[in-house]
Amino acid sequence: MNTQTRGFFITIEGPEGAGKSTLAQAIEKHLQKSGKKCLRTREPGGTPLAEQLRDVLKRHKGEERLHTATELLLMEAARVQHVEEVIRPALDSGVCVICDRFYDSTSAYQGGARGVEAGVIEYLNNYAVSGCHPDLTILLDLPVESGFARTAKREQTCGKFDRFEQENIEFHCNVRAAFLKLAEINSSRIKVVDALRTREEIAHDVEILIDECLFKVQ
Ligand SMILES: Nc1ncnc2c1ncn2[C@@H]1O[C@H](COP(=O)(O)OP(=O)(O)OP(=O)(O)O)[C@@H](O)[C@H]1O
Ligand SMILES: [Mg+2]
Repeated sequence: MNTQTRGFFITIEGPEGAGKSTLAQAIEKHLQKSGKKCLRTREPGGTPLAEQLRDVLKRHKGEERLHTATELLLMEAARVQHVEEVIRPALDSGVCVICDRFYDSTSAYQGGARGVEAGVIEYLNNYAVSGCHPDLTILLDLPVESGFARTAKREQTCGKFDRFEQENIEFHCNVRAAFLKLAEINSSRIKVVDALRTREEIAHDVEILIDECLFKVQ
């Protein structure tokens, strides 16, 4: 009989430059301090094959258009690889998984911003994860312009824009609005955190949310 307690599954969502990757590191440190084994990963990506799909999704160029349906299906294909090869096995062996973006990003980008019907996205998200749902989702919320101001200052990426970052302000405002709507609908799982504050203030609030949630789960 498997008596291993399932690991805790946290996802971090939000618009470009909200501080997701920064927060993922802080969460990992926090969980490790309380003796938990952690795995920090990201979407799209997280396995060699899924990282190849990420590259297509973020950097495809040339005359042939990458259609919205293709984009959606590639996101979901990458997610299947990630869930089955990495996330589910980690959770099953008691490891806490911290994932930088997950299926709510598909709902916000391919749904809210590209306009794919919510029911189609929901069906595909559920199909891809096959029961592997986050226990807690942190939605870092901030105005689109503030997120871009942050990424513009980030050394590794300043001046380099991927296919999504190249979209106009309206697209990114639709992403933000879609995230906030998702949080309203799924209020027990998705917690909205004001990302316009310092890294320390954000991490402090999120640590409280995590501890409350872990206490409930155990
Ligand atoms: N609370 C904060 N206040 C100010 N700057 C921040 C804050 N959090 C992160 N940053 C900085 O803003 C930039 C973007 O942060 P980060 O890379 O964590 O965002 P992200 O949401 O992962 O971005 P992307 O959507 O591009 O993956 C980085 O240079 C980071 O150091
Ligand atoms: Mg990031």
